[in-house]
Amino acid sequence: MKKLYYLWQFMKGNRALYIISIGAIGMATFLLFFWPMILRVTVDSIIGEKALEAQGWLKPIFTGAFNFFGGRSGLVGKLWICSILLIIITLIRGIFLYFKGKWSAIASESIAQRIRDKVYNHLQLLPYNYHVKSKTGDLIQRCTSDVETIRRFLAIQFVEVGRAFFMVGFALSFMIPMSVPMTLVSMALVPFIFGFAVIFFIKVKKAFQLSDESEGRMSTVLQENLSGVRVVRAFARQAHEMDKFDTRNCEYRDLTYRLIRLLAWYWSISDFLSLIQIAAVLILGTFWAANGVISLGTLLAFSTFVGMMLWPIRQMGRVLTDMGKTMVSVGRIHEILDEPTEEFHDDEKIAVKGKIEFKNVSFEYEPGKPVLKDVSFTVEPGQTVAILGSTGSGKTSLVHLLPRLYDYTSGSITIDGIELKDIDKHAIRKNVGIVLQEPFLFSRTLKENIGISRINSEDDEIFEAAQIASVHDVILDFQKGYETAVGERGVTLSGGQKQRVAMARTLLMNTPILIFDDSLSAVDIETDAAIRAQLNRRARKATTFIISHRLTTLSEADIILVLEHGKLVQIGSHEELVNQEGLYKRIWNIQNSLEEELETELEKNNVKIGINK
Ligand code: CTP
Ligand code: MG
Repeated sequence: MKKLYYLWQFMKGNRALYIISIGAIGMATFLLFFWPMILRVTVDSIIGEKALEAQGWLKPIFTGAFNFFGGRSGLVGKLWICSILLIIITLIRGIFLYFKGKWSAIASESIAQRIRDKVYNHLQLLPYNYHVKSKTGDLIQRCTSDVETIRRFLAIQFVEVGRAFFMVGFALSFMIPMSVPMTLVSMALVPFIFGFAVIFFIKVKKAFQLSDESEGRMSTVLQENLSGVRVVRAFARQAHEMDKFDTRNCEYRDLTYRLIRLLAWYWSISDFLSLIQIAAVLILGTFWAANGVISLGTLLAFSTFVGMMLWPIRQMGRVLTDMGKTMVSVGRIHEILDEPTEEFHDDEKIAVKGKIEFKNVSFEYEPGKPVLKDVSFTVEPGQTVAILGSTGSGKTSLVHLLPRLYDYTSGSITIDGIELKDIDKHAIRKNVGIVLQEPFLFSRTLKENIGISRINSEDDEIFEAAQIASVHDVILDFQKGYETAVGERGVTLSGGQKQRVAMARTLLMNTPILIFDDSLSAVDIETDAAIRAQLNRRARKATTFIISHRLTTLSEADIILVLEHGKLVQIGSHEELVNQEGLYKRIWNIQNSLEEELETELEKNNVKIGINK
């Protein structure tokens, strides 16, 4: 019920149009019933000699029209009038059906478009953590095929429910006044046909679901293969992947085949029941007509009614199953919409100087598994902080706290003395530039990829940012320069070029706080040094965090933090840390001895080379 309410909510703005379109199908159905009625009058009272017989509310309409055309004597020589009437009715019916199709399509397409917009906009506002955890394929499916299920249901099936109701309602109101016994005969098997349809489709719901899920699995294999195509090629796993796809493909075929077999059964049995129903009407009707209980025209009318009525009733089972499927889709879409979004106040602006203080900060992704434990340190504006630690020690987690991608679990982080949790997320993110450990480039041009961090930035500013990131000349060397389109995820660039483009994007923001998560290590030592030198020359030097394992980079920092299993085990300048036992000194010694070894080795072989640490 709740889901029906959600569906009703989704329909907001198009409800009226949608209801009118159901009204149009009501009108079309209503007109359909005049066909057998006109045939009946023609056979009984124009060709035959019975007095005009029309019951209930139809009486004034029929007698009026009958007399208008001059009664039986007038009409008997002009049977074409009846044909023209039938054609006119068909035409008007066609117009109603056209509008029904048009309106329900407009309504359902707009509803689908609105749902997609709503979900997409909501996804943009969901926290970073949500996107890290959710599967892209699943989200895409929810935004596309689930919405499509809803659209199809609204455009086609729900209208069918309307048609079936109108059909039965009008049939009864046309049939009962004509002959109650014939009505009973015509309706005798309807409950069974309807019941059979409902029960059958409830039973095969599972088969529908299995086939849908299997299709989903097949698409996942396809999607993963396509996005991981480089891994597949690199490891020569094509044959394995083909097998995997083939298995899924066969599974899907088998399940669909089973479904089609079941459906074939359904339609045969349902056909059989319907034929019995029609036969009953014909046999009893003929018998009664022969005995003069009903007229020939009435028999004709009833046999046509039954044929008309059975089809939508047989469809109902299918519609009800699809309704179940639609409700599942509505639920899946609402799961996204129910996720709480991040709070933003776009107008809030802050001027950050860049003093940062961590006091006993702890952080955990999952309760009970702390990733950062009791971390405390202070950084003055403009200082450079280097972070060192083995993999998984919490470096990335620590820097992710600054732009509030995640919020710390306990302790306090202040920026210029203000508690970070009290600063709006948008406002702080405009002041913290971060180059992610695994940068992502959009399949757009290089200029767009860099410019994305600051809308309406001038070309000069983009060039300057690229210059600092030492990528400007590289870009100019490309045939199309800044207009070069990078492939999906930036595949046409080398790893280091990609890192530098990502860096330029962050530098363009010119933020008072800057974070490089391992990004400088992806470029060679000289470029690394050049980039840092450029940064130091900037008019306003940013408070900079650099995660790196490169000693030249680390040793030049004002403060070095050494993390081990989420704990800050050492803190100090290069001079302080080389004289302390610990990770920093160990790495220093290893790198130094390696270089000495290399130098002796090279000297032995008479090679003279200047080694840059
Ligand atoms: N972690 C987690 N959930 C995430 C990200 C990380 O549970 N969404 C865990 C990791 O399994 C790891 C710990 O948090 O044990 C610290 O991760 P991270 O801060 O990313 O480690 P780094 O020090 O950045 O490691 P690396 O040098 O490999 O980048
Ligand atoms: Mg990391």
